[in-house]
Amino acid sequence: MIKYTENASLRPYNTFGLNAKAALLVEYNKEEDLQQIFADPRVKGKPFLHVGQGSNLLFTQEEYPNIILHGAIKGIKPTSQTEEVILLECGAGESWDHLCEWCVEHGFYGIENLSGIPGEVGAAAVQNIGAYGVEIKDVIVAVSVYDVANGKHVIIGAADCQYGYRTSIFKTPEFKSRFIVTGVLLGLSRKAPFMLEYGNIKAALLERGFSLMQGADKRKSGRPMRGKQITLSAMRETILAIRAAKLPDPQVLGNAGSFFKNPIIGREQYEALLNQNPNIPMYDVDATHVKVPAGWLIEHAGCKERHVGDAAVHQHQCLVLVNRGHATAQDIVKLSQLIIDTVQERYGILLEPEVNFI
Ligand code: EPU
Repeated sequence: MIKYTENASLRPYNTFGLNAKAALLVEYNKEEDLQQIFADPRVKGKPFLHVGQGSNLLFTQEEYPNIILHGAIKGIKPTSQTEEVILLECGAGESWDHLCEWCVEHGFYGIENLSGIPGEVGAAAVQNIGAYGVEIKDVIVAVSVYDVANGKHVIIGAADCQYGYRTSIFKTPEFKSRFIVTGVLLGLSRKAPFMLEYGNIKAALLERGFSLMQGADKRKSGRPMRGKQITLSAMRETILAIRAAKLPDPQVLGNAGSFFKNPIIGREQYEALLNQNPNIPMYDVDATHVKVPAGWLIEHAGCKERHVGDAAVHQHQCLVLVNRGHATAQDIVKLSQLIIDTVQERYGILLEPEVNFI
């Protein structure tokens, strides 16, 4: 199925809920469709943007003049498994959270901490989504793409995907209009351990009556365990509950998750900030760098109550900007610039949007 729609509403393709329009929307659901689409005179040689669910996009113009492509390639298929690992082939248009749920139901470990992230599998691999101590790159074995430059389907091994914090080869100027992700091959585990080393995961599990001992710790201690053993579904539910307490549901309140990246700064700069702000949190990056939560900087720079029209800072997590109802793209752009300027003035740190401005 290939569907061409002129002057199409992009409301279903941006979680901010903005009413932008695309000159041409092309929707398809098979890998083979891409050859036909790119041979079509309406598309051939023209600029395009391939989207997933638009959970990381901000359409800044009401009339987007180019082509928007969306693929609904579905399917979750185990291709090989041993006692320890399983390889799973997933269509790029599969819902990411549906995949997480499916893996939990089938006893496959590795992406339970990424439960509840909006969007689709293909976009997840482009963006290297991450949450609660796990990034999708940790389980990606290979990514299947359609190469627009020569009309061929290619498989790119994880090592060649140039994965970094919320980035990959698929976001670089050279490849972003050349490779269209059609599927992802994941390598998942058949057993624990779980990743518990992030924020309040441990506290949330303890509160729900789970023991934090797992694997080798459990065997070494030799003591009977106090509390229930963590299961895959318990882990997923705990993550979903932590998220629900902080992050707005885009179906209810338009948003695109974290609006900014957490800035990476030098340790010296961090030490200087720490002198002035003894509670400033950080995550280690390497020997010379740390990551500082942008949400903390935004809140402590006094931006929590800021809004421009209906574009506002989310009250439970300042890293997220929300559309309270009738925000325009320009309201969101203005609010983000206001935040960037305020944080820069207060802390000397330049925030960089994680959301893609289109
Ligand atoms: N914090 C504040 N005020 C705020 C928000 C956060 O003080 O308004 C503090 C928290 O108290 C905590 C620290 O900042 O000490 C970190 O907060 P949190 O654990 O909520 O995570 P984050 O760094 O704000 C990142 C990701 C999220 C991901 C969470 C959980 C980025 C840009 N964001 O947020 O990803 O869900 O960690 O792992 O890396 C997304 O990319 O869309 C996204 C939501």
